[in-house]
Amino acid sequence: MKTLIKNGTVVNSTGTAAADVLIDGETIAGVLAPGSTILGFDLEANVDTVIDATGRYVIPGGIDAHTHMEMPFGGTFASDTFETGTRAAAWGGTTSIVDFVVQYAGENVIDQYNLWHAKAAGQCAIDYGFHQILSDVQDSSLVAMDELLHEGVSSFKLFMAYKGVFLSDDGQITKAMQRAASNGSMIMMHAENGSVIDLLVQQAVAAGNTSPYYHGLTRPWQAEEEATHRAIMLANLTGAPLYVVHVSAKQAVEQIANARGHGQNVFGETCPQYLYLSLEEQLGAPGFEGAKWVCSTPLRSREEGHQHHMWQSLRTNDIQMVSTDHCPFCMKGQKDMGLGDFSKIPNGIGSVEHRMDLLYQGVVDGQISLERWVEVTSTTPARMFGMYGKKGVIQPGADGDIVIYDPNGHTSIGLNKTHHMNMDYSAYEGFEIDGHVDTVLSRGKVIIDDNQYLGAKGDGKYFKRGLSQYLI
Ligand code: URP
Ligand code: ZN
Ligand code: ZN
Repeated sequence: MKTLIKNGTVVNSTGTAAADVLIDGETIAGVLAPGSTILGFDLEANVDTVIDATGRYVIPGGIDAHTHMEMPFGGTFASDTFETGTRAAAWGGTTSIVDFVVQYAGENVIDQYNLWHAKAAGQCAIDYGFHQILSDVQDSSLVAMDELLHEGVSSFKLFMAYKGVFLSDDGQITKAMQRAASNGSMIMMHAENGSVIDLLVQQAVAAGNTSPYYHGLTRPWQAEEEATHRAIMLANLTGAPLYVVHVSAKQAVEQIANARGHGQNVFGETCPQYLYLSLEEQLGAPGFEGAKWVCSTPLRSREEGHQHHMWQSLRTNDIQMVSTDHCPFCMKGQKDMGLGDFSKIPNGIGSVEHRMDLLYQGVVDGQISLERWVEVTSTTPARMFGMYGKKGVIQPGADGDIVIYDPNGHTSIGLNKTHHMNMDYSAYEGFEIDGHVDTVLSRGKVIIDDNQYLGAKGDGKYFKRGLSQYLI
């Protein structure tokens, strides 16, 4: 099966050019000057399918390196399964996800890893990889870190918050970092001071301050900055590389930028919610509405300028990439567990379907360039997490994961479920986006075209990742 995408504008992180893209089977065979022939053969007459991309961008498929499909969390499960969540991702132009295997205290890491494979196998619409969450860092967990590297899991997430659920103490964190420093893997960190947050939450609830708004007030930026600084110091001590997930506070960005300025391998990820949404507008919505946007780290104050700073950091590369932290819960039966007590609202926002569009809006608004859009949503995730070459770029030998994006199209994230995620609302309801995902190919197969899903569950395969390209 050969496919020719002709007349489009190919956008890689390194540049933009008018070019035709030839895909042979699952793999890109050539990126050619428009209308090229090969050894005198007219390409168009010798392929099975021709896609005319006139007036549209041809970009590498998005990579969302932070998702939680069907994650057991907050007394319930994230509402997207691997089937529904990866299908929604495809609709939004994301062709790979990296999801988190969960290990709670006392559980065996390898057993959990096998369990996650069993959940995902045969279910996914797009390719998927895994990071591994470590909570208590048992001796067997350290051995597992080495074993998992050979399985294509080269990154391990630790938590400095959620005591009794995920939290690792500083000694446990140091142990895991020592192992990462010696085996070449990446430490990912949920950087919030859990003890301080637990105290503030207890005090707020006791004082009768129980609405979703207090979720934001009890997780202040100081708790994020302090934990980010501590994680950086422990990484410095051990020599481990550090990737700070879901950064929302401008002070945390400053910690990351400072460490990078001193030559440390520290990286930062932000998410669309920290670019667009705020404490005042969303968490502070009337009644219980704010529950829709309860996630951690929390939405920050627009008055304090965090969102503006986050766009700026994305442009200047103080923050390197954007993932969603897709962890959806429905309002009915899930978020409403926290009616009358914000601390019982399951933490998470779903947006796996909206990331490419929301970040493209940053191009339209003049916040980032076209190439930077591709870089932060696809190329850097591929490089950061050992997928580059096959993913994150349009070049010969890469997987045929391609999105044809119409800059003159329009996407309404409207009411009444115009999205495909398994949620009874969208965190971005009412957003109007200048741009549209027209066609999506996953390893050469057209899975979205003309507002139709043409894929099938099981199309997506496990991607065995290598080491990060940012480390030596
Ligand atoms: O609120 C969030 N972020 N939920 C998902 C779990 C995590 O901390 O990433
Ligand atoms: Zn987290
Ligand atoms: Zn997460």
